[in-house]
Amino acid sequence: MGKVQVLDHPLLQHKLSILRDKNTGVKEFREIVGEIAALMCYEATRNLPTEEVEIETPVAMAKTKVLSGKKLAIVPILRAGLGMVDSMIELIPSAKVGHIGLFRDPETHEPVKYYCKMPPDISERQVFVVDPMLATGGSAVAALDILKKEYGCRYLTLMDIIAAPEGVKAVTEAHPDVDLYVAAVDDHLNEHAYIVPGLGDAGDRIFGTK
Ligand code: URA
Repeated sequence: MGKVQVLDHPLLQHKLSILRDKNTGVKEFREIVGEIAALMCYEATRNLPTEEVEIETPVAMAKTKVLSGKKLAIVPILRAGLGMVDSMIELIPSAKVGHIGLFRDPETHEPVKYYCKMPPDISERQVFVVDPMLATGGSAVAALDILKKEYGCRYLTLMDIIAAPEGVKAVTEAHPDVDLYVAAVDDHLNEHAYIVPGLGDAGDRIFGTK
């Protein structure tokens, strides 16, 4: 089974409380989604391989480390995943960005693909799939399926800010090879497939559409 890491860090938990508050406005919500994504990205990239290089500082020669190994890609699940991309690119400026558009059928809650565009060499990259909310897991499982089956991706990590236990189960069962990073696992899903207590609709709160 892939690793499930709940990033129980005081800064993350503090920022998450601000996101959860229904009185937090769009500007602050958007900023904090970005800050949380950066903090989570820091942890999710902890085990990236490095190699030693020799450089000359203004003072002396030094053996230091740089990233080695696979190039990276970030794949937000549209549209809420977009809120996590900019701050991750600031940390990993050479990462390419693919997009997967999935919407949840309001009746069945099943994911429906409406858009997909990937960098040409995506199969060779270490891919970070991002979406603030892991609810039923339907979208995440579908996105990972698409990346593996249609694009040949083999190195996949999923990052969600808040997960429901149902989503964690669905992803780890369907994609046991994928590492999952979350900042919190909440209590349950309600009858509308919203995470409880959650933070409401992440897309609406990031883009101010409600
Ligand atoms: N998507 C959201 O934005 N919020 C939820 O609670 C569940 C899915």
